[in-house]
Amino acid sequence: MKKVTAIYPGSFDPPTNGHLDLILRGSKIFDELIVAVLRNPEKDPLFSVSERVSMLETLTGDYRNVRVDTFDGLTVEYAARVEATCVLRGIRAISDYEYELQMALMNRKLRPELETVFMMPADKYSYLSSRLVREVAQLGGAIKGLVPELVEQGLRAKLDPAYKLQEFTSVEARKSKSRKR
Ligand code: PNS
Repeated sequence: MKKVTAIYPGSFDPPTNGHLDLILRGSKIFDELIVAVLRNPEKDPLFSVSERVSMLETLTGDYRNVRVDTFDGLTVEYAARVEATCVLRGIRAISDYEYELQMALMNRKLRPELETVFMMPADKYSYLSSRLVREVAQLGGAIKGLVPELVEQGLRAKLDPAYKLQEFTSVEARKSKSRKR
């Protein structure tokens, strides 16, 4: 039987527990799942593409049929390049449906043989989005449980000057210790 490859395209800025939940579900129904991070020069992201790729690679390291890649241009063209026959997208609430339907139908117009498969994340993540996580983190709110610990640390390092200073001083302290030896 032919192996089914799906792509899971998105911004993932940053990856959330909702994304991971969907990746886990997708990895169970597709032979191969490619998490495809959009390289979008127009957006001003919080995390660089390589930071997002590195986080996603670490977070999905245990899934043997999942890999992480980047793309630019049209999703349908990227799907063709990697020989994917499905696009995986998550639908959290009815409010997602209109935008997702529009995208799925446009992608179908551009490449009729590419199917979009919608999956629902666990309901505890139904209100979760990267945009809200960024906003809450930027305003000093608690994001524990919404993103993996690795992402939480990354957010803290990006947004909290005190955390950066702490990192810097501990690096400096290590350096001066080794100079003294
Ligand atoms: O995580 P996001 O930001 O909701 O992901 C949106 C994404 C990357 C899936 C969408 O913007 C996309 O497919 N962009 C690539 C350009 C493209 O193909 N546009 C036409 C889609 S109908």
